[in-house]
Amino acid sequence: MAVPGNRPSADARDWWREAVCYQVYLRSFADGNGDGVGDLIGLYQRLPYLVGLGVDALWINPWFPSPMVDGGYDVADYRAIDPVFGTLSDARAMIEEIHALGLRLLIDIVPNHTSSQHPWFRAALAGGPDCVERDRYIFRPGVGPEGDAPPNNWRSVFGGSAWTRIVEPDGRAGSWYLHLFAPEQPDVNWDSPLVRREFESILRFWFDLGVDGIRIDVAHAMVKAPGLPDLGPSDIELLASAAHPDHPHWDREGVHEIFRGWRAVADSYPEPRVFLAEACVGASERLARYVRADELHTAFNFDYLTASWRADTLRIAINSSLSAMAAVGAPAIWALSNHDVVRHLTRYGRPQSDGPVHTLANHSPPGPVDLALGTRRARAAVLLMLALPGGVYLYQGEELGLWEVEDLPEETLQDPTWERSGHTDRGRDGCRLPMPWSGDAPPFGFSPDHAQKVPWLPQPPQWKQLTAQAQTGDEQSMLELYRKALHIRRVHPALGEGSLAWDSTAVPDVLSFTRPPGFRCVVNLGQGAVPLPDHREVLLSSVPLEAGLLPGDAAVWLAR
Ligand code: NOJ
Repeated sequence: MAVPGNRPSADARDWWREAVCYQVYLRSFADGNGDGVGDLIGLYQRLPYLVGLGVDALWINPWFPSPMVDGGYDVADYRAIDPVFGTLSDARAMIEEIHALGLRLLIDIVPNHTSSQHPWFRAALAGGPDCVERDRYIFRPGVGPEGDAPPNNWRSVFGGSAWTRIVEPDGRAGSWYLHLFAPEQPDVNWDSPLVRREFESILRFWFDLGVDGIRIDVAHAMVKAPGLPDLGPSDIELLASAAHPDHPHWDREGVHEIFRGWRAVADSYPEPRVFLAEACVGASERLARYVRADELHTAFNFDYLTASWRADTLRIAINSSLSAMAAVGAPAIWALSNHDVVRHLTRYGRPQSDGPVHTLANHSPPGPVDLALGTRRARAAVLLMLALPGGVYLYQGEELGLWEVEDLPEETLQDPTWERSGHTDRGRDGCRLPMPWSGDAPPFGFSPDHAQKVPWLPQPPQWKQLTAQAQTGDEQSMLELYRKALHIRRVHPALGEGSLAWDSTAVPDVLSFTRPPGFRCVVNLGQGAVPLPDHREVLLSSVPLEAGLLPGDAAVWLAR
C-alpha cells in the first residue's frame, strides 16, 4: 500500500521539514562551571559532539530565569537566561556558534502558565482583589458560603486540584487561581489582549536574537471554555483527550486564532522562523489542525511515541500521521523519548501490550525490565524512525543507549509529581539524569575535574560502559549506530521528506517499506528470523546479519 508523502524539501528554507533535531535537556547535558548543573558553557564545549553525531538542529528546554519548581517550565522572566545556565551574552555566543557550525536552534516557550514568581503574578497578588493585574491570570471566587471550595473540579496534571486559594494582602482568605500544572505555575488568561501582545513581543525578542524556531509548551491548553465548566466523567484524563470534542481546557478551537497570529510573526522574518507544537490531542486529524498552512509548522506525534513495540500498532500510528499531515501539507514529526516520558529503551524492555504505553508518569514500574532486549529493540527502533518521511527529534542520551533510572533515592527526586501524587508517582527524574561523557566513575565527565558540587541527580555506576568515550570507535555500540544512521540519512536521496510504500507481502510482525529512489527498511518485531529479500545491498543493520536472515527485534536498511 502506498502512503501519501509530503513534497520533498525544495531548498534550505525548508530544512525544518526533514531535520533531525537533538533535544538538549540543558540541566543534564554538560556542566561547564562545576556547580553540578548543565549550562551554556558546557553545551558550547560539546557542540562538536553534536556535529559529529550528525544532527541538523538543537532544541533546548527552557533556559529562562526560573525557580525550577518544574525544571524551568515555571518561567519568571521570558527575556533572560537563568544564571545557573549562563547569561544572555552566552546565549548570543551560542547562537552564533550553532549557526557557524551549520546547525539550527529551537528554544522552548511556555505560554500556558508563568512562574508564580513572575512579576505579573506577584503584582496580581499584591494588588488585591480588584487590581487589573489579576486579569492576566485566571482568578475566581471559591464555592460555598465561605468560598472555601475550589471554583470547579479541574485537576492538576501533577496531581490534586488545579486551584489554589490565595491570601489577600489584608490577610483574609481570598479567591482561587487556576494552575493546570503545579501551584507555582499559574495559568495565564489568554482572553487578555495584553497577554497576547506580550507573548508576540517575546517571540520577536528571541527571533531577533537569531533563534530559528520555538517549541510551544502545552499548546493545546492555552484557551479555556467560557464559564470554566466542570469536567464531565469522560474528561478526567490528563494531557490527552480530544476523544471528547468539547473538553473545557484541552484542544479548544480558540487556540488556532492565537497560532495564526504567531505564524504572522514568524513569517515577517526573511529567514525561516518555525514553530513546533507540543499538543497532546489524541487523534492525528486533531493534531493536523495545528499545522495548517497558516498556523504552526510542525507538531510532535505522540501516538508514535506511545506506541508499543508491535508491528500493527506502529504501522497504524505511522499511516495515520502521514496521511493526516499530508492532508494539510505538513511534515510528520517522529520521536521516541523526551524529558517527560520513560526512556524508550526501558519501555521496550518490558512486555508489550496492544494499546498505547503509559509513558508520561512513572507509576510503580509494571515489572522487571530486560535491558538487553530493550537495547536490541531501541537499535531497531531508531533505524525505523530515521527511515520514515518527515522530521525526527532525538532525546539526549538515547544515542548512548541510556535507560530510565527507576531506583533514584527518594530524597533526590525533584519532579513536582512526586510530592503532588502523595509519593505514589516517582515522576520524570529517571529520564533526566546527567549525561555520561567519559571516565570510569560518576560524574563521568559531566562536570569538570575542578567541580565544586556533585551532579544534581546521581548517575548509576553501570553507565561506565555507556559513556560517549567508551562507545566511540566501537562498531557495535549504540553511539556508532546512531552516527552511521544519521550520516546515511543525510546523504541518501530517499530519506528525509518524501513518501513510503509498504511491502504488502511482508509477514505479520514485520514492517517493510520502500522509499524512492532505491531504499528499503525492514524491521522484524517478531521472535523468529525472517528471510531478507535477495540481491539487496545492506546499508546498515541493527544487529550483525547472517545468511540473508533478519533475526527478531532487529532492523535493516537495504539498497534496492
Ligand atoms: C510539558 C513539558 O514538556 C513538561 O516538562 C512540563 O512539566 C509541562 N509541559 C508543564 O509546563
